[in-house]
Order: sequence, then C-alpha cells, then structure tokens
Amino acid sequence: MTTTALRAADVPIAVAATGARIPVIGYGTGGGGRVTAETVAAALACGYRHIDTARKYGTEPQVGAGLKAGGVPRAEIFLTTKVSHENLAPADFERSTMESLETLGTDYVDLLMVHWPLPTMDLRATMGALAEMKRRGFARHIGVANFNAALLAEAVRLCPEPLSALQVEFHPFLDQSRMIALCRTLGLVFVSYCPLARGRVLDNPVLAEIAAAHGRTLSQVALRYIIQHEGVAAIPGSGNPERIAENLAAASFALTDEEMARIAALARPDGRLVNPAGRAPDWAA
Ligand SMILES: NC(=O)c1ccc[n+]([C@@H]2O[C@H](COP(=O)([O-])OP(=O)(O)OC[C@H]3O[C@@H](n4cnc5c(N)ncnc54)[C@H](OP(=O)(O)O)[C@@H]3O)[C@@H](O)[C@H]2O)c1
Repeated sequence: MTTTALRAADVPIAVAATGARIPVIGYGTGGGGRVTAETVAAALACGYRHIDTARKYGTEPQVGAGLKAGGVPRAEIFLTTKVSHENLAPADFERSTMESLETLGTDYVDLLMVHWPLPTMDLRATMGALAEMKRRGFARHIGVANFNAALLAEAVRLCPEPLSALQVEFHPFLDQSRMIALCRTLGLVFVSYCPLARGRVLDNPVLAEIAAAHGRTLSQVALRYIIQHEGVAAIPGSGNPERIAENLAAASFALTDEEMARIAALARPDGRLVNPAGRAPDWAA
C-alpha cells in the first residue's frame, strides 16, 4: 500500500478557462462528525492544498480551526465553500457568504458555489448574487454544484461573471462522460464528489485486481480513475489521517487505457447515490 506523503507541488492542477487552478485531489469535509480541526490540519500536513466545505455541512468551524492550526499560508490553499438551497435569494446569499467567511476565518474563498439548484429559484437573480460575491472580492472564483446540463448552460448564459467549476457526483459506478465533456467545452473544471462512492468501491473485484497489479489500494485506483480524466478533480472525505494521506497519493501513479476502460464499464444506470427528492434536477436534461 502506498501512503507516502506527497509534496503539494507534486499534485497536478486542473485549470479552468477563468484561470482557477484547482489541485486535482482535495479534502472533502462533508462527513459530519468525522471531520475535525485535527483531520483538516493532517490533510494540510500531508500535502493537500485544496479543501472543500459548505455552510450546510456544519464543518466550516473545523475547517477554519484546521487552517489556522495547519500553518500553511492562506495563499497556497484552494478553499471552497457553498451556499445552500435555502439561501439562493440575493440578500440571503450575501448573508450566508459573510457567515461562511467569518466562520472560516478568512477574507475570501477561492471558490464559492451554489450547493443545489431549486426548481423554484430565480436563476438570474441567484447568478447575479453569486457574481456579486466575486466582484466584491469575497470569492476568487465561482461555480455551481448539482446542476444538470440544461441548468448549467443556462447558468453560464445568465451569470454576469464566468463560472469556473461544476461539482457533481462521480465515481466508477456512475457515468458522467456527458457532463465532463460539457465542462471541457465550457472551460470549467469538473469536481467529483463522493469519488469513493461512499466506500462502495472498497469491495469491487475489478478495482481489487487493478489495485493488486499496481501495488495500490482500491481507493487509490478509484481516485486515480477519476483524476485521470482531463480537467477533473476529486474531493474524497475521510476522518482517518492515514486514509487521508493514502487518498492524496492517488495522484502519483497512472492507469493504462485498458484499465481505464475496464473501470468505466463498472458504471450502472442506478449508480447515483445522492438524489434528494424535491431538490435533485432531472439528471438526464
Ligand atoms: N456538492 C454536494 O452536494 C456534495 C455531496 C456529497 C459530498 N460532497 C463533497 O464530497 C466529499 C466526499 O464525499 P463523501 O465523503 O460523501 O464520500 P466519499 O469520499 O466517496 O467516501 C467517504 C467514505 O469513504 C471512506 N474512506 C475514505 N478514504 C478511504 C480509504 N482510503 N480507504 C477506505 N475507506 C476510505 C470514509 O471513511 P473513513 O472516514 O473511516 O476513512 C467514508 O466512509 C464530501 O466530504 C463533500 O466535501 C459534496
């Protein structure tokens, strides 16, 4: 098993058309109780320079404390947070962003995202509020999460500032080739959440066979599969410092084209894990 800490400089960067430079492996902090200031500091210590949080996760306090404890200069870290679906009206959007900055202990985030679209939202107004946060310097870059292709195209059209990233679910059991291609066309980085399918990758025989051939772990093979797609980043979550380091080391080996094809063939129509009723868009649109 390869868990050697990587130097941050050795982790590839995905670059958006807007110039956003996003390390292809980030530490996902959506995991509630398992995320602490110590795990965030451990992620920084082993070489992560990309941290993903959201107001809704309730982990901004731990991220803020971990960033402080980690001692890495703020300018070296790519920090993402998100505004949740309850706060998409402009006044709420600004309040939520200010609360995030206060809790994170920073003057700006590198990426501010709409966390989920809502069928009832005023997309033009929400995109205006998102762009306003960038114009006022509270976000270096802006993006959206959980948008389908139709909504993403509409968001790009309506947003007064260019979008830099889309964050959606992607792992070996879910085909996202259409959305990845769309992001490339639009010049956005595609950020994969639940890249380990919330642990479901860990007992897959195909991934196990490929992992054995490389002397790697199944998690590393799943993550490598994701980031070997051009312009794609992944944000695995873990509360365990050894596994946090193990996941980052997925940046330091490569799969063959044949292995990539074998893993792509694991995708299933019912592979999606995160699909909240009433909030999830029609993913096929
Ligand atoms: N935008 C959105 O709507 C959205 C939705 C969901 C998630 N996210 C983001 O995506 C991130 C990742 O998603 P996720 O945490 O739900 O799922 P995930 O990263 O696919 O899987 C996390 C699970 O895998 C385990 N794990 C992690 N590394 C491992 C390793 N090397 N070996 C064995 N097990 C390992 C973790 O357990 P241990 O803690 O015990 O290691 C945890 O149970 C979140 O933290 C969040 O930042 C965004």
